[in-house]
Amino acid sequence: MQLVAGVGEVDVLDGALRRSWNEVQGWVGDRIPHILKFVRELHDAQKVEGDILEIGVHHGKLFFMLSAISRDHDRCVAVDLFEDQDKNLDHSGKGSLAIFTRHLHELFPDYASRVTAISADSMSLTPVTVRGRLGVDGVRLISVDGGHTIAHVVNDMALAQELLVPGGIILLDDFLGVHWPTVTEGFYKYMQIANRRLAPFLIFQNKLFLTTFSEQPETLARFREFLDRTLPNEIHSGRWRYTTVGDNSVLSFA
Ligand SMILES: C[S@@+](CC[C@H](N)C(=O)[O-])C[C@H]1O[C@@H](n2cnc3c(N)ncnc32)[C@H](O)[C@@H]1O
Repeated sequence: MQLVAGVGEVDVLDGALRRSWNEVQGWVGDRIPHILKFVRELHDAQKVEGDILEIGVHHGKLFFMLSAISRDHDRCVAVDLFEDQDKNLDHSGKGSLAIFTRHLHELFPDYASRVTAISADSMSLTPVTVRGRLGVDGVRLISVDGGHTIAHVVNDMALAQELLVPGGIILLDDFLGVHWPTVTEGFYKYMQIANRRLAPFLIFQNKLFLTTFSEQPETLARFREFLDRTLPNEIHSGRWRYTTVGDNSVLSFA
């Protein structure tokens, strides 16, 4: 998780994205908004419908960016331990409902009515109870960035899989990050579960991006087309390549 002064990408973002970048403390790569633009374009083109969810919100830096691509009828759900930090077993960030709520109302009043913050330990949720507890049905965009232990990652990926609609996108934070190897280990453990229905398509700025299994080839092809169109020089610069995660071809950036 790197917090870098924005270059390039930030200049073309709309006001909400820029406000989160400038005003909210947290850990988001400076070019993640470019990928969110792809998600918005993909979901508009494919008519993918669903809500927006983050598990592990801290002060909301990424959550507000995710919410900036919500539509009027979407719900945006922020799940964190918030003040219940005794259960933050590996001390990954430190959520604060007070700071999150202040930012929401001061910086993002336009979509504050779409947002629900839920204080919960993700380990208390199961694939069976998660829809009722969070009040969501289908979700089209999910960030998994809560507890970083192997058990948390396996649990939270299983919850995300349960909620994601076909063609939805999941961002898993700290994949291949040197400070949190348990995230990578947890991810590969998740990949072994019998009913695994997600497939990765992109490694970018400390995050692994996944979609639903059957939509992975189309999503990867559309993402490559997006890069050819939006980054025509960089795509041939050697910073991008195709690699393999599990049994999936993915694009990677370094
Ligand atoms: C790395 S921070 C999240 C950073 C955030 N996504 C951002 O954009 O800056 C991790 C968050 O997960 C929360 N957390 C840790 N364990 C959790 C659990 N078991 N259930 C829910 N949230 C948890 C922490 O309180 C913390 O706010």
